[in-house]
Amino acid sequence: MSVTGAGGAAGVRRSHALVLLALGLLLLMLLASHAPAPPARPAPAAMAPPVRSAPPSPPAPLATRTRSNHSAAASTSPPTNSSSSSSSSSTVKAVSRAGAPLTGQLYAAGHRRPHPELCPALGARLRLLVLVTSAPAHAAARDAVRLTWGHYAARRDVAIAFVLGTAPDELRAAIDAEDALYGDVVVGNFVDAYSNLTLKTVSMLEWADTYCPRAGALLKTDDDMFINVPRLLRFAAARANASLAVWGRVIRKSLPKRTTKSKYFVSTAQFAGKVFPDFATGPAYLVSRDAVRPLLEAAAREPYLPLEDVFLTGIVAGKLGIKRHHSAEFYNKKVAAHPCAIQRAISIHMVQYHEQFDLWRKLLDGKTKCT
Ligand SMILES: *[C@@H]1O[C@H](CO)[C@@H](O)[C@H](O)[C@H]1NC(C)=O
Ligand SMILES: *[C@@H]1O[C@H](CO)[C@@H](O)[C@H](O)[C@H]1NC(C)=O
Ligand SMILES: *[C@@H]1O[C@H](CO)[C@@H](O)[C@H](O)[C@H]1NC(C)=O
Ligand SMILES: *[C@@H]1O[C@H](CO)[C@@H](O)[C@H](O)[C@H]1NC(C)=O
Repeated sequence: MSVTGAGGAAGVRRSHALVLLALGLLLLMLLASHAPAPPARPAPAAMAPPVRSAPPSPPAPLATRTRSNHSAAASTSPPTNSSSSSSSSSTVKAVSRAGAPLTGQLYAAGHRRPHPELCPALGARLRLLVLVTSAPAHAAARDAVRLTWGHYAARRDVAIAFVLGTAPDELRAAIDAEDALYGDVVVGNFVDAYSNLTLKTVSMLEWADTYCPRAGALLKTDDDMFINVPRLLRFAAARANASLAVWGRVIRKSLPKRTTKSKYFVSTAQFAGKVFPDFATGPAYLVSRDAVRPLLEAAAREPYLPLEDVFLTGIVAGKLGIKRHHSAEFYNKKVAAHPCAIQRAISIHMVQYHEQFDLWRKLLDGKTKCT
């Protein structure tokens, strides 16, 4: 593990110089790309970012539960400081009827590095918020994102942050140094582990709801993904009026693995049905602004399932009546690296460190003619 830590720290130093170089190039690029002018700068004083993370509201009893009607555009004030979720109503403490713990019982709200400054005015000027789930040891993958498609975070209408769980002791100093350098590492209140991936997604929703509720849309993605941000912005703009929606690579009629030997084992207590509801695969999916809070609140009331995509975009979204729209532009798989294929994709999966740079060059390639 010490090897990883040292490599990460050295990588941070090296990439610092690279970032300076790349930022210069980016400025030129951005100037050339004549992005539509965002609305006038809102008065900052009226919309000071919240001081601390507000935990999600305690879930309402099932009988009285109604769909949240939260209009983010209307909420110009910072979220209120509601009391800690640990004191929330006994409905959270109750184990689900079938015997699996509820997600709300496992999830501790709050973020250790909230970085509210990433979303000025709660994201009012942002067309897109990209939250990249990442693991503490993946410093190189985060660097590759920052040095390539992560450059779009410099736009006024795009924000990008990484969401991690708590790091093991030996990586904490490296994470602190990385965050001191880039200021884009958000850390939730859960141990970073594969089985906690769903907690990471809930933590991401909580951050978006608390610090960035006015951003136009939220992209959930991972640190081994290449995201074609300009194409995603066009995609989101064409659907700016859509309500309560998720877009991505939608899988239909997927069956839960009932053998305990499977990495994807799901007990009947976790999910009783024979077939999973339609869900958007985890590597990248776009969530409409108005779906973020309902998903966050409803997730707490469902039995915990480590398959974050099935859980959130399938089970929880399904119960809320949030539509899952399939779009072929979300490849969410490896793609033969031809510039035209890259330029047509929104999201490409399983991208190694060096491949990020190759895809980035090909995205910006202006010489190849694509039909
Ligand atoms: C949501 O709130 C708005 C404004 O208060 C109201 O016009 C609308 O009917 C509400 N929608 C639902 C589904 O309750
Ligand atoms: C939030 O509420 C708690 C409990 O009432 C209080 O101790 C804390 O000081 C409050 N924080 C802020 C920022 O208002
Ligand atoms: C998941 O997170 C919780 C809360 O931090 C922790 O207690 C638990 O050990 C974690 N799971 C794993 C497998 O580390
Ligand atoms: C969204 O609605 C507004 C107002 O009705 C309309 O002017 C605009 O063209 C719509 N945008 C899209 C992408 O449909």
